[in-house]
Amino acid sequence: MLVFSTSDKGGAGRSVTSCNLAYRLCLSGKDVAYLDFTFGSPTAGALFEIDDVARGATSGGLHSYLLGSVGFPAGVDVHAMTDRAALRSSASRAAKLVLFPGDKGGAEFLTVNDGMVHRCADLLSQLERTFEVVVVDLSAGRSAALELALRATALPQLRAHTVRWLVFHRWSRQHILAAAGLVHGPNGLLRVGREWGHDAVCLLESVRYVRTAVPSVAALSMMSHPAQAAWLAEQDEVLKRLASSNRLGASALLGTTPVEPVLQWREQVILDVDVDAHIANPATADAFVELAHRLLDDGTWESF
Ligand SMILES: Nc1ncnc2c1ncn2[C@@H]1O[C@H](COP(=O)(O)OP(=O)(O)O)[C@@H](O)[C@H]1O
Ligand SMILES: [Mg+2]
Repeated sequence: MLVFSTSDKGGAGRSVTSCNLAYRLCLSGKDVAYLDFTFGSPTAGALFEIDDVARGATSGGLHSYLLGSVGFPAGVDVHAMTDRAALRSSASRAAKLVLFPGDKGGAEFLTVNDGMVHRCADLLSQLERTFEVVVVDLSAGRSAALELALRATALPQLRAHTVRWLVFHRWSRQHILAAAGLVHGPNGLLRVGREWGHDAVCLLESVRYVRTAVPSVAALSMMSHPAQAAWLAEQDEVLKRLASSNRLGASALLGTTPVEPVLQWREQVILDVDVDAHIANPATADAFVELAHRLLDDGTWESF
């Protein structure tokens, strides 16, 4: 399965949630490849706490591969190479998790050419033979990374593969409208996908949304003045209606992550030891487990 993580805006929680999702998938026994296609600012090395590739690969990363200067991109075994001892020691309970970083200092691509598209498709189909899930974190917005992913998956060699698109957004008016625009708007995923040969209906059926860092109205209300609690509940309803009217309602939702203080303070993978030590909230780990489960569950992807 190929999973593309997108968001219209930066700061949507796309990378942090995708890394945590990848980690939970591998704890559930799936071999996972994680490709950092956020070409302008590679962050995945830092999230998995791998100092060597914290800002990208020193040589032969994804930029070099896509430009044709190496035959295969550098991959890093997360459990073996992470500086975080607790993540290293979860290796015995987990399947394989390999990070493919971009090049250190590599920039956003301004254009996409056929050579890059074919190399991208070759890489994805090769990785699909070794890994059960290939997670690709794309640069935000209508980026070259998004075009590359759409063009590669439209090629005959990837047509028959299972492809999922996850669109991440915060629980706010601007983010809801931006996420809807990225999928349905001008130069959005559906329009560009159709231009490169995708069937728009199939493409839309492969899209689900992830709402990140959603505040709990119930928890906030307990700490709030009644007037504030009423306002919060009303705004939450307004956002739900806005999401539904923009086709981001419950039937198109993969899941939600709660506001997590650990992630607000530090971008990282939430481990069970963080929950056991009462540092991270159990609901956060549960949310990542649930996202992983829903991603793999065919029922989630029945047409709506
Ligand atoms: N559930 C959450 N609760 C609180 N903060 C979060 C949550 N998810 C992500 N964040 C934080 O939001 C910020 C942006 O997330 P990031 O994944 O880097 O966004 P993107 O990849 O979309 O640009 C980071 O500081 C991250 O740790
Ligand atoms: Mg990111």
